[in-house]
Amino acid sequence: MRSRDKLRSLQILARAGVDIPRTAFAKHPRDINHLIKQVGGTPLVIKLLEGTQGLGVVLAETKAAAKSVMEAFYGLNANILVQEFIAEAKGADIRAFVVDGQVVGAMKRQGIEGEFRSNLHRGGSGTAIKLNRNEKAAAVKAAKALGLVVAGVDMLQSERGPLVIEVNSSPGLEGIENATQKDIAGKIIEYIQDHIHTNDRKVKDKVGV
Ligand SMILES: Nc1ncnc2c1ncn2[C@@H]1O[C@H](COP(=O)(O)OP(=O)(O)OP(=O)(O)O)[C@@H](O)[C@H]1O
Ligand SMILES: [Mg+2]
Repeated sequence: MRSRDKLRSLQILARAGVDIPRTAFAKHPRDINHLIKQVGGTPLVIKLLEGTQGLGVVLAETKAAAKSVMEAFYGLNANILVQEFIAEAKGADIRAFVVDGQVVGAMKRQGIEGEFRSNLHRGGSGTAIKLNRNEKAAAVKAAKALGLVVAGVDMLQSERGPLVIEVNSSPGLEGIENATQKDIAGKIIEYIQDHIHTNDRKVKDKVGV
């Protein structure tokens, strides 16, 4: 549940020392100028907290655009967060699939020409990628911070290293298995097989049988 909440999950990641893009949040429109300043000015990205599959993620190139989009969202009582735009990611992000503290597969998703969002649902395409040590460490740390054994960690490649934008607690298998040609589901099943007895014992201890 924590990972499904964009704001809460970013707070948890920041607290755990996972690098994320500069992000700000406020409930009231009087904070708009301050919000823009907090993330270092424009261009910036505005995200609907309840958005998904790239819908509700808006790139505002100028301060005037940022203000009017934010005012529109606030007018609809929508919860938004504002984020520094990582231009050097060039419309791509990385999905690292973590199982039991290890990256078992990773792909780079590239958005279509002229699109900054890399979501496969927005026409983006995924290809296998080998992560460097920092990227692997960031993915593992992010999954751990949210207490997830299975996680899809999304990162942007920035000038200051990998920045985590999102951790998915029920990541899809099709895209990553197609891109990497790896049996990711098999890794999850292996984990369950190896741990089912210990978990069973813990449950029994809890209910006192
Ligand atoms: N700060 C940013 N700078 C540059 N590009 C970004 C930034 N944040 C997001 N993006 C791009 O936009 C895409 C969508 O953003 P994000 O993953 O945050 O929302 P979403 O995909 O709508 O949410 P969900 O993954 O929960 O469905 C990302 O995959 C990435 O390519
Ligand atoms: Mg996403």
